[in-house]
Amino acid sequence: MSVILVEGGKRLSGAVTVQGAKNSVLPILAATVLSGGVCCVKGCPDLSDVDTAAQIIRHLGGEVRREGADLVVDTRCISRCEIPEELMRQMRSSVMFLGAILGRCGEAVCSQPGGCELGPRPIDLHLSALRKLGAGIEQRGGRLRCTGGAALRGAEITLTLPSVGATENIMLCACAAEGVTVIRNAAREPEIVDLARFLRAMGARIQGEGSSTVRIEGGRGTLRGCEHRVIGDRIVCATYLSAVACAGGEASLIGAEPEQLAAVTGVLRDAGAEILATGPDALTIRRDRPLEGGVVVRTSPYPGFPTDAQPVVMAALCNARRSSLFVETMFENRYRHVDELRRMGADIRVEDRVAVVGVTENGLRGTAVTAHDLRGGGALCVAALGAEGPTILTGLSHIRRGYASLPEDLRSLGADIALHTDQN
Ligand code: EPZ
Repeated sequence: MSVILVEGGKRLSGAVTVQGAKNSVLPILAATVLSGGVCCVKGCPDLSDVDTAAQIIRHLGGEVRREGADLVVDTRCISRCEIPEELMRQMRSSVMFLGAILGRCGEAVCSQPGGCELGPRPIDLHLSALRKLGAGIEQRGGRLRCTGGAALRGAEITLTLPSVGATENIMLCACAAEGVTVIRNAAREPEIVDLARFLRAMGARIQGEGSSTVRIEGGRGTLRGCEHRVIGDRIVCATYLSAVACAGGEASLIGAEPEQLAAVTGVLRDAGAEILATGPDALTIRRDRPLEGGVVVRTSPYPGFPTDAQPVVMAALCNARRSSLFVETMFENRYRHVDELRRMGADIRVEDRVAVVGVTENGLRGTAVTAHDLRGGGALCVAALGAEGPTILTGLSHIRRGYASLPEDLRSLGADIALHTDQN
């Protein structure tokens, strides 16, 4: 079994560049299927979810090769339209291939996607939107068959909630649908904007990304290969900011846009950290005195406080002088890190979607803990850095899904952290 060992209590200092955004790269890799050409995705993080996306593309008949930090994807020879169940189960974003394959091949076959167990994660909005674009959808024996891709037509689609994945799936499929598609109540996350930029580089006509109304003028056979650099990962950046907030010290984080992190930096500032935007893609955080805490954090769609940053910021606030309150509005089961933080001495009470983070008597203490999901894993690392004594962290497969170099990056900031890989 592989483990991360952390000897906590060291102040952090230095600078680190954050990886490319997982949640940008995954829909972008799905979008390459639509291009029917060669795409170069620059700054593509080395993650197990990226490997899964690459395996899906290879299974469909495409080629994917890594050239340093970039991924070169050739989808000229796509010949299959079906995703095997074992690949669908690996991650939630496998569902993003549905719209792209349907648009490219006229038909797509897959099953329900897997991913972090954060509570029920239906895909009803994805499916009803594809139906609106003219797709026929049959569900039989756990498999989903979407047909009618050759006759897709643009449509007006109003989402009942601003789902990130549904917005992305519609954008992909709409690129291949004749005429104009308008998505209302669209998600506004920076990763949607990045996907739109990638699609535009492929030749797509898209407007309004980043606002609640996205307009796509689609048509068959209009796209081509392209080159694109993905944005920095704001959740990885939020993790490193939380690490400094928890352990203390001063660090610069390069590669993520301060504006995209405004909700997170606002909370950390209110809790007592000093944070400055030091450039268009750079932030510096300093925390000399103990964190005050005393904040209320309510997760909501962008530009609100991101649910993905809730676990890591909660971990930092376990070391504060006053209680804080969290309300998780996006997912039913996103407090799985709480039991593990309690093992480290944290005083956290959860009722339904509310968590009260009390004052940790005598501070966090290192112990053996397990990551049960990706961002929960990030949170346990954050807590371990601010804890007294050694922490042994297991469940690293979750962490590998979204953090390309967590121990290395934190070590470069002076943390005593090491990955021990089991060779068996
Ligand atoms: C994306 O997931 C992210 N994943 C998640 O990050 C993130 O937590 C989430 O957006 C919210 O910001 C990727 O981008 C790959 P949603 P997604 O559809 O698209 C409900 C991480 O840690 N819903 O915006 O799956 C749903 O149940 C991951 O990197 C429906 O009811 O999120 C949830 O309550 C975890 N029906 C809410 O909408 C649907 O058809 C928001 O989900 C779709 C969603």
